[in-house]
Amino acid sequence: MSSTIVSTPVRNAVVVGGARGIGLATVRRAAGRVGAMTVLDLPEHAPEVAAQFLGARYERADVLDPDALHAGFEAAAAHGAVDAVFVPAGVTLPTPLLTTSAAEAQRCLLTNVLGAVNVIHAAVPHLAPGASIVLCASVAAYTGGGYVGGPVYGASKAAVISLTKGAARELAPRRVRVNCVAPGCTRTTMLGDDPTVHDELARRTLAGRLADPEEIADGVLFLWSAAASYMTGAVLDVNGGIRL
Ligand SMILES: NC(=O)c1ccc[n+]([C@@H]2O[C@H](COP(=O)([O-])OP(=O)(O)OC[C@H]3O[C@@H](n4cnc5c(N)ncnc54)[C@H](O)[C@@H]3O)[C@@H](O)[C@H]2O)c1
Repeated sequence: MSSTIVSTPVRNAVVVGGARGIGLATVRRAAGRVGAMTVLDLPEHAPEVAAQFLGARYERADVLDPDALHAGFEAAAAHGAVDAVFVPAGVTLPTPLLTTSAAEAQRCLLTNVLGAVNVIHAAVPHLAPGASIVLCASVAAYTGGGYVGGPVYGASKAAVISLTKGAARELAPRRVRVNCVAPGCTRTTMLGDDPTVHDELARRTLAGRLADPEEIADGVLFLWSAAASYMTGAVLDVNGGIRL
């Protein structure tokens, strides 16, 4: 095989923001399919993680804290080189543009964009050749928000798509693939639990319903896998046909 980008079965995975929602679903779906799993997330989730992730290592790390991220990836690398990374860590910002404060916009943009940059920086020294990084965009990237978040959130997710493509180009010589998953409206804490909102969002999909987080997780596992060995710089839409 002469391919420059080759995937192998996942031996050592890291999910940054894996304590709940789509990240947690990914950790669960990966159980038994990957060798080792390290979850990095904010400290507030530690008890939940300990209860649910038997077998997964948990490290406290804010994506805006490069030192904590580096320590987290170093801990993960105790299991060998890292060959799969998923970065669902992120925050929404549902407010309209004109009522969004600079501080709110900064928090959203920094967490969702600089956070992903920081994770890539921390991950790269520990990546195995053939590794797969999956970032997390959103349907909101295409629409300027209007689903789970507002315009600033949508802009942050559009930036994640651009970052995915640039990182794919830059990391290809290391035989690292970089893709992103772009979820539609998914049943998590971020979406909230207002049934009227759920019904309205579900009506906007061809599937006629919201996504379960496991359905997004399966897209991530695909992008990690050898089945996606020829995919890099791509956006995988998992959204039930929401804009069609
Ligand atoms: N739920 C949806 O409908 C939906 C739709 C499109 C995209 N997304 C995206 O999917 C990703 C996961 O969302 P979710 O719905 O599971 O949300 P969630 O709020 O349930 O989970 C987000 C996770 O990210 C972690 N996190 C937040 N800020 C962090 C930080 N600074 N450092 C480290 N970890 C941090 C949280 O602690 C949490 O565990 C997000 O990037 C989100 O924007 C979600």
